[in-house]
Amino acid sequence: MATRQLEIVKERLSDAVSENVPLSDWTTIRLGGPARCFVQPQSVEQLVELLQLLATLDCDYRILGGGSNLLPGDDPVEVPVIHPGNLLQWDRDDDCLRVGAGVSLSAFVARANALGLAGAHVLAGIPGQVGGALVMNAGGRYGEIADLVRQVSVVLPGGTRRELEKADLRYAYRHSELPPGAVVVGATLALRRTDDIVALKRESGRILKEKNAAQPTASWNFGCMFKNPPELSAGRLLDQAGMRGLACGGARISTLHANFVENLGQATAREVATLIEACERAALDRFGITLEREVRVWEGSAKDHYR
Ligand code: EPU
Repeated sequence: MATRQLEIVKERLSDAVSENVPLSDWTTIRLGGPARCFVQPQSVEQLVELLQLLATLDCDYRILGGGSNLLPGDDPVEVPVIHPGNLLQWDRDDDCLRVGAGVSLSAFVARANALGLAGAHVLAGIPGQVGGALVMNAGGRYGEIADLVRQVSVVLPGGTRRELEKADLRYAYRHSELPPGAVVVGATLALRRTDDIVALKRESGRILKEKNAAQPTASWNFGCMFKNPPELSAGRLLDQAGMRGLACGGARISTLHANFVENLGQATAREVATLIEACERAALDRFGITLEREVRVWEGSAKDHYR
């Protein structure tokens, strides 16, 4: 991003732009160099204005959700980073909730449970925000967010708003197909009414407890590195390949679950990437399996990231 472009964006959207924001403050693995231009739109209208402006400036961008399945690099990010974390609208329409992209998944789960609306409870313990969860199709053993999706609202590059139906997104295991560069601003999520709120909360609590026992939920990490290959567990494969506890500088493969890499406090993104690559090699050498990354690694150009 040229300095002149940055000045124009700052001038037009002064209340939404911050400069040189360390992405380590915005990722759950606490890593990432500074974003030269970090934009937090205060409303969908302002996001529309931003995307119109970036189109006229011919400027690429990256999108940051809850930062829970993301590894930025250590170097500064030169293109604007858009964080829709302030899009926090809530609405109930019968058994559906309309939820803004910036709402945390845990708040969504808690609110749905309290209202006696079942379905969200299976997402208990999953970090991140609704927007990122919709892009990644976040989920676990008991279900995924795609199971709840009715419609997803996005703003396209150039600032066009669009309502996408579930079928448009071609959801699959940890996969969606959004139009390139689309920023999710919210979704209509369909739930099921239940009279037994106590049982709903109990089940949600049980799922959370199970997750906390099996995964390093308290350390700095970005969740699973790899998707599970069909009928297999990436964690078990990496464990069998001896990767559990392997360290590189300040990064380490979790001693609890081999599909997690942790920042022990002083890691660099490069060290984490080295461990990810070591796991890929180990799965290939030992089992002939090419693991597919679940984590989004910000390397290459912004266009590669969303195309
Ligand atoms: N296992 C090992 N060694 C390990 C890790 C796991 O032997 O180091 C074994 C476990 O004992 C278990 C099996 O592998 O028998 C599967 O492990 P686990 O039950 O922990 O589930 P997972 O398949 O590794 C998936 C999701 C998680 C989700 C959990 C629970 C993926 C890639 N992972 O993990 O999602 O929380 O189920 O629902 O789909 C994520 O996507 O980031 C994520 C954390």
